[in-house]
Amino acid sequence: MAAKLDMENLVSLCRRRGFIFQSSEIYGGINGFWDYGPLGVELKKNIKDAWWQDMVRNPPPGPDGQEIAMVGLDCSIIMNPKVWEASGHVGGFSDPMVDCKETKKRYRADQLEVIAGHHEIIPTLYYAYTKGDEALLKDALKKAEKAARASGKKLAGTPLGEAFMTVAKDAARLAVIVGPDVDVPGTLTEPRAFNLMFQTYVGAIQSEENVAYLRPETAQGIFVNFKNVLDSTRVKLPFGIAQIGKAFRNEINPRNYTFRSREFEQMEIEFFCHPSESRRWYEYWRDVRKNWYTTLGIKSDNLRPREQGKDELAHYSVGTTDIEYMFPFSEEPQELEGVAHRGAFDLTAHMNKSGEDLRYMDEDAWNRDAANRTTNSFKEWLKTNPPKEEIEKYQYVPHVIEPSAGADRFTLAVLCEAYSEDKVPDSKGKLEERLVMKFHPRLAPVKAAILPLVKKDGMPEKAESLYRELKKHFKVEYDDGGAVGRRYRRQDEIGTPFCITIDGDTLKDDTVTIRDRDTLQQRRVPMAGVLDEIRKALET
Ligand code: GAP
Repeated sequence: MAAKLDMENLVSLCRRRGFIFQSSEIYGGINGFWDYGPLGVELKKNIKDAWWQDMVRNPPPGPDGQEIAMVGLDCSIIMNPKVWEASGHVGGFSDPMVDCKETKKRYRADQLEVIAGHHEIIPTLYYAYTKGDEALLKDALKKAEKAARASGKKLAGTPLGEAFMTVAKDAARLAVIVGPDVDVPGTLTEPRAFNLMFQTYVGAIQSEENVAYLRPETAQGIFVNFKNVLDSTRVKLPFGIAQIGKAFRNEINPRNYTFRSREFEQMEIEFFCHPSESRRWYEYWRDVRKNWYTTLGIKSDNLRPREQGKDELAHYSVGTTDIEYMFPFSEEPQELEGVAHRGAFDLTAHMNKSGEDLRYMDEDAWNRDAANRTTNSFKEWLKTNPPKEEIEKYQYVPHVIEPSAGADRFTLAVLCEAYSEDKVPDSKGKLEERLVMKFHPRLAPVKAAILPLVKKDGMPEKAESLYRELKKHFKVEYDDGGAVGRRYRRQDEIGTPFCITIDGDTLKDDTVTIRDRDTLQQRRVPMAGVLDEIRKALET
């Protein structure tokens, strides 16, 4: 089994080679914000393009093999604040948080645990740490062991972790919790709700009535445009609306590199269907979305779809599957994407708040059943008091299935998955260490590097002409600096799937060698066939 990736190595590579930088680094950075460098922006763009191509322009066939209807949107980040009142974000989009009065640090209360179960030895104290954070757990254990030693005892076995939220319910027990970053008890406050939306003002006057929010999800822009899309296109239910865009959350505890950021990008689909069909569509999207990750090179062992328990579900959801990934910074899989059955919650909420009728009228079904009725007017027919179930065959609030993925989270998973260290022979056949990013060719920031073997004898000219041809189609690099082995290593480190070398034979017969990053195999192919070779790899 491959050794677990040390995140520090990945972070260092990402900075060194221009994948990810700390935002505003020359001013000391800003917690929870990241910049993508020249290679990172290519990688993330490839991810978003792959999603758009595979989910919006050419989604897989539906459960019965039927064509899936999907359209896109690009909504504004700041919307009428009533959107967020209707969606429940103003009243309820909050995490329980706890402050440390001593260090002024803030923690998510539901992510804190305390060391418990050793009260015969450390009779009164509880030591807190963040779940999944090995360094903080180690610190907490050290403190507990020290306390045990002070009373002449030793901690036996592995102490149990207990949820902070449970312990903190009792004021007396809260008072004896030692916070994660202090040595004395009683510095943690009671958990309090904290709204995660960033607030701003629209217009010149900073008053209560001008308050607006940076969107915390792209989904609501889709719901409030549901009617616009129906009225302006020929889509019929079932169909989906997709959007890629920035979202902002004032996360209490941004952590694990870009995993939990305060500014991030989402790739969301709201798929609208008849309520009676919603379970089928939920299962369809759950499977489609999980498979998508594996087609892009995520090993299925590292992907863990997990159906949420009833107590975990958001208030509107009848079912949610979290597609989780085994990130190296945690012992437990972490969410990449949520596929949620949202029922009629969102459209109903916006219908109630805005007064707009967001019900769907299924004209096809209505016309199909014309022979069974005496009138063709839906309004007239309603006057005959048909049963509710009959009406809902034709007019209803659609149910929604929402596959909601994080572009940054998936980018991070792709970086973790790609990072490999192996040994390859150098020019003299001696094995040397190599760091290689094994990106799927579709996602690789640079698809091919064009390398003249030497900087003379007409090789640079040949290489440049190939480079100019290929760059019309893909991101490629021209590299003539240093020994060819060193140039291979440089390309391996940024995950370029193909290195194309122009040598003496190229000048004679117009063939080049293509070196495969993963197998190291070199094949001789006609220069005119290189474009197709790369295209083929991008299609697999
Ligand atoms: N519309 C539903 C929604 O927004 P969510 O589970 O809160 O659901 C969906 O977010 C996805 O957005 C997550 O699975 C994750 O990939 C990404 N995401 C959420 N918060 C994030 C954060 N603070 N940093 C990076 N990505 C985040």
